[in-house]
Amino acid sequence: MNWTLKKAALRTVHYTTKVIYPILKTPEPELYTGAGSLGQLPELIKNQGVERVLIVTDKGLTSIGLLDGLYSALESDDIHYSIFDGVQPNPSIQNIEEGLKVYQENNCDGIIAFGGGSPMDCAKIIGARASNPKKPALKMRGKFRVWHRPPPMFAVPTTAGTGSETTVAAVITNPENHEKFVVVDLKLVPPIAVLDPELMVGLPPHITSTTGMDALTHAVEAYISIHARKSTNTDAEKAVKIIMTTLEDVYKDGSDMEKRNQLAIASYHAGLAFTRAYVGYVHAIAHNFGGLYGVPHGLANAIILPYVLEFSLPNIESRLAKLAVISGIGPEGDPAPTLARKFIERIKDMNRNMDIPTQVKELQEKDIPLISKRALSEASLDYPVPRLMSKEDCENLLRKLLP
Ligand SMILES: NC(=O)c1ccc[n+]([C@@H]2O[C@H](COP(=O)([O-])OP(=O)(O)OC[C@H]3O[C@@H](n4cnc5c(N)ncnc54)[C@H](O)[C@@H]3O)[C@@H](O)[C@H]2O)c1
Ligand SMILES: [Fe+2]
Repeated sequence: MNWTLKKAALRTVHYTTKVIYPILKTPEPELYTGAGSLGQLPELIKNQGVERVLIVTDKGLTSIGLLDGLYSALESDDIHYSIFDGVQPNPSIQNIEEGLKVYQENNCDGIIAFGGGSPMDCAKIIGARASNPKKPALKMRGKFRVWHRPPPMFAVPTTAGTGSETTVAAVITNPENHEKFVVVDLKLVPPIAVLDPELMVGLPPHITSTTGMDALTHAVEAYISIHARKSTNTDAEKAVKIIMTTLEDVYKDGSDMEKRNQLAIASYHAGLAFTRAYVGYVHAIAHNFGGLYGVPHGLANAIILPYVLEFSLPNIESRLAKLAVISGIGPEGDPAPTLARKFIERIKDMNRNMDIPTQVKELQEKDIPLISKRALSEASLDYPVPRLMSKEDCENLLRKLLP
């Protein structure tokens, strides 16, 4: 198919799904926020009738004792718990199967997803596998393929972040071909989310910065999406404003509880926005850097974001101009092209101020055709991006990221 026809076909799908998707109401978790909110979790678990819970987390978090308070709270409320802390960053199908084994061996009936996006996504698919034991994770790839509802899940994010605590998605790595694939289903939205900034004050600066830039990317990609609507715009604007005015401060001084709280809320709103309006090429490309080279998700997004915005600029000037005004980067009276440029430059400044590089050091020229093919295929029907990229456009952009 030639490029003009292909573009027309993609746009037909994007505009059709723009009408259809909002009819499928995306659920929202019951939300608990603020310092100390983790203390409410045992009661919430009991209210759901859950008696034996699996905690899904990673070794980084168990080793620093971040879960110690949770263990004692569960014990004092007589809630039986088992722990699976084998989740790796960019979680794999193997991680899911190992966690599922612990879930089944201990006859669990609920899951606490405790950690960043990796434990939360892994927990979502452990739950989906537990209620659909005959369906392997790979068969859940794509949309609406989780048939039976997963057991109750309690999401406790410790990064701000992926927003996975409110999204329909889980991103899993297939270790056989090093490809990340996305599972999307309304049943994957956790029924309960607890955002407790006390869990985030110890986040090291480089994880604070990159996970914060992931959240910014969610908000910006949702805002410039063809599927953006009033509610997603409100959520995205709120997130962008907070992140742009707070993230660098928290990178420098992570102990400010109120600013940590604000970032957790921003990440949640960015999640609300993108789970309804979708992400775009930044994520489609970043997933490949995660799958092929293990580049942390937020770091990949932070590096790629300004390049994709520059590519998309002809179609998003007024959108970025609005974000610039909202974030206090420029006055409302300035021309849109000036404001939009300033917004992109501000993102580059944030990256520079937080020691985020401008290139991907693992990227190799020989991988560019494969990455471009996979990224465009991931984005094609599912990401309603504001300006479509041809294979050449994508490969040219990737070359700018070479070290
Ligand atoms: N489901 C979704 O909607 C969605 C959206 C975006 C990203 N993702 C996925 O999420 C994953 C990335 O998640 P992430 O960026 O949150 O990172 P992560 O969960 O991989 O964690 C990164 C590191 O930070 C450490 N860490 C986490 N919280 C900490 C804390 N409070 N204190 C100290 N250390 C802490 C972890 O131990 C780990 O070593 C990727 O696989 C990505 O594809 C999912
Ligand atoms: Fe993301």
